[in-house]
Formats: sequence, structure tokens, C-alpha cells
Amino acid sequence: MNDSIKIGLIGFGTVGTGVVKLLFEENKPLLRDREIDIDLIKIADLDIISDRGIKIPDGILTTNVDDILDDPQIGIVIELIGGYEPARSLTLRAFEKGKCVVTANKALIAKYGRELFEAANNAGISYLFEASVGGGIPIIRGLNNGLNANTIKSIYGILNGTTNYILSGMTRDGVDYDEVLAMAQKLGYAEADPTSDVSGQDALNKIVILVRLAFGADLNVETVFCEGIENLTVQDIDCAGQLGYTVKLLAIAKRHEGNRIEVRVHPTLVPSESIMAYVEDEFNAVEVDGSAVGRELFYGKGAGMMPTASAVVSDCIDIASRLNAGTRVNFNRHMIEGNGLELIAIEDITMRYYLRFTAKDQPGVLFQISKIFADENISIESVIQLGASDSDYVPLVIMTHDALEGDMRRAMRQFEKLEVVHGRIQLIRVEDI
Ligand code: HSE
Repeated sequence: MNDSIKIGLIGFGTVGTGVVKLLFEENKPLLRDREIDIDLIKIADLDIISDRGIKIPDGILTTNVDDILDDPQIGIVIELIGGYEPARSLTLRAFEKGKCVVTANKALIAKYGRELFEAANNAGISYLFEASVGGGIPIIRGLNNGLNANTIKSIYGILNGTTNYILSGMTRDGVDYDEVLAMAQKLGYAEADPTSDVSGQDALNKIVILVRLAFGADLNVETVFCEGIENLTVQDIDCAGQLGYTVKLLAIAKRHEGNRIEVRVHPTLVPSESIMAYVEDEFNAVEVDGSAVGRELFYGKGAGMMPTASAVVSDCIDIASRLNAGTRVNFNRHMIEGNGLELIAIEDITMRYYLRFTAKDQPGVLFQISKIFADENISIESVIQLGASDSDYVPLVIMTHDALEGDMRRAMRQFEKLEVVHGRIQLIRVEDI
């Protein structure tokens, strides 16, 4: 047996608690069998008073991160504080001190991946982030190892458990967005401040990480199109259902000819018989299309204490095995700098659309709407007037054929000026996966 590798944990929240449970209790016999000797010897958090339901031996808890960063015994630092700062500075300090780092911090990797991978390489240490995407699903290893003999053609992901839980509730139970969100918060599925989940930002960070691994694209996260689920209504989910579609928050990445890629995150109508439509509640799924393997689906719990802790501890075990063997994770140039792929502007992407208008029920309305479509070169696939009219206005649902997003945006600006159209026009993109 090799010498024990000492670990320091920064951030004792939900996932941190799961990590402690695995390292202190459940994984001890498993690790012994695998001849991995890792020891969690310090936990830093501002709150070391609250009872997390685990007995922590004396001398382990501290409020001072320096107790971890300055401890020469510690070889692996687990960063579970999230956000950009102080996570970024602490990670760089850990590298400088020759400590390997494991993180679940998707925002940090998505924005500062290039700087952090480069710094890890320069310091000659390992930096792993399996828990940053898909919770307990080993999608990072899947792309980095299992599928590394493939050119990846596309990735479709349901990458956020909170929004998938909300959409599942709205679809299954017909309950409004606000009500399901409140229920999700009560059950602990959604954060007290769910902004980064419902706005799509969390899924965006995750797809940017996957795109770096799969395509070697060094993207600026702020340039990728992202729309959240805040404006979706049960009415649209019902209409979509009647048309044979289910609404999901989908993260999409596709490789195009000529060194270009398409990446976007938004609510999406997917065929109700597609696999993605069956991914419900807090579950995540990532469908990867590889040149040799074809389409593969990674599915599992994408959030929560123990699934995410599983990914964190698996990274610690990986690093410990490498340290025992005298090796480390080394990022290639493609992972650090990208390989020059160009992100296609959203306006230049072609797709199908669902639009719901609340329109006056009178002659000539459809003519005014369809004229704008025709002027913008958008071809209508079907028009449905749903439900009985109980006022002067009726819901009018239009599905289009493939159209350019730029044309659709111009059309939307004109629809919004129509006197016969009332309130918000709902636009949802369609993906026939
Ligand atoms: N908040 C995320 C989700 C989990 O709801 O999926 C952490 O990535």
C-alpha cells in the first residue's frame, strides 16, 4: 500500500456533506479493496457550527482556508464553494503550492477554463472537474476517455435538474411555473435563488465545458445564445403536447462544415416520442453523436448531494491513483487554447419554430401575420386555432418550416407592432431529434 494521500475540502455545503459521507463512512472498505489510501484531514467553511448529520473528528473543521492551502501534507484540495471568486484565486494558489484540485464549479471552468488548465499544466499538477457537468453521470470521462477515438458530431443535453423538474411538473400535472418552482424549492430541488438554473446559465456553463472537451472550442461563454424557462406557460406546454412535442430546456452543440460550430441553450420542442422527452424530473441526459460509435446516451441524476459527491470522490480516487503511479492529468493544447473553431452567430442558424399569438378573432388577421412570414422568407408548416373563443382574442399556434433565426427575429419585431395581436408572442425553437 502506498502512503496515504491527504485531502482538504473547501466548502461544506450540500455536496461537501455528501463528499464527507463518502470519504468518512461509505467508501472506506471500497477504497481499501482498491488499495487507495486517501484521508480527508481538513474541512474549511465559514459555517462550522451547523449540524450536517455526520460526526466529524476533532481538529478537522476550520474557518480558515489557509489551514488547507498552507498545509504541506495536503496533496488534493476539493473546491466546492462555487462562483468565480474566491474560487479562482484559491484554485490558483493551490496550484502554486503544488496541490491537485478537484472541483464541481461549472461557472469557473466555463469562464476561466483556459487560464486554469494552463496554470495546472504549468504547475505540473492534476485538475479534475467531473462533478461540474451532469452530477453523477461520468460524462467528462466519457468524452475524455471512452469516446476519444471519435470525432464528435453533436451533443444534445438536458443539463439542469432544476429546470427539468419544473418542466416535468408543468407537463405532467398542468401546474403553473411559479407553483412548481415553489414546490421544487420546498423539496430542496431548486435553490432559494434559482436564477442561474431557470435563466439557462447553469446549462450554458455546462455545454461550454462539454464543447471544449468534445470539439476543442475555447468559447467565450457570454457569446453563446441562452434563453431560460421563465416565460414558458402551461398553455404552451399543452399546445406543444397536442402537436406531438414536449418542451425541454435543451443545450445543443453541433459541428458544421468549415471549422464552425453551433452552440445554444433554450427551451425546445422535442418530439414526444424522442428519448429526451422521457427524461423527467431532476434527471439529466446527454446524447453524444460520435463518428465511430454513433449516438450514445448518458443518463442519470444530474444534481443532488450524493450523485455530485460521487463524481467529486471519483476524481479524488483518479488523482490518488495517478499520484501513486507518479503520473498526472495533462491537458493538451486543444483543451487549453481550443483549435480555432468559429461559433456561428445565432442569427445565422436555421431551425423550425413554434409561435403562439393571442390574436383577434376577425377576418384578415391570419393574412397580416402570414404576410410578414412571407416577406421574411419564412414558410409556414401549419396553423392551428386552439380552444373556444371566450373573448375577442384566441390563441393561434403556427409551426414553421426551417427558417433563419435572423429572419425570424425581424418577423417578430413586426408581429409585435400588429394591432390585432395582443400581449406577448411566444416563440419556442423546435429540434427534431
Ligand atoms: N443546479 C444544478 C441543477 C445542479 O439544477 O441541475 C448543479 O449543477
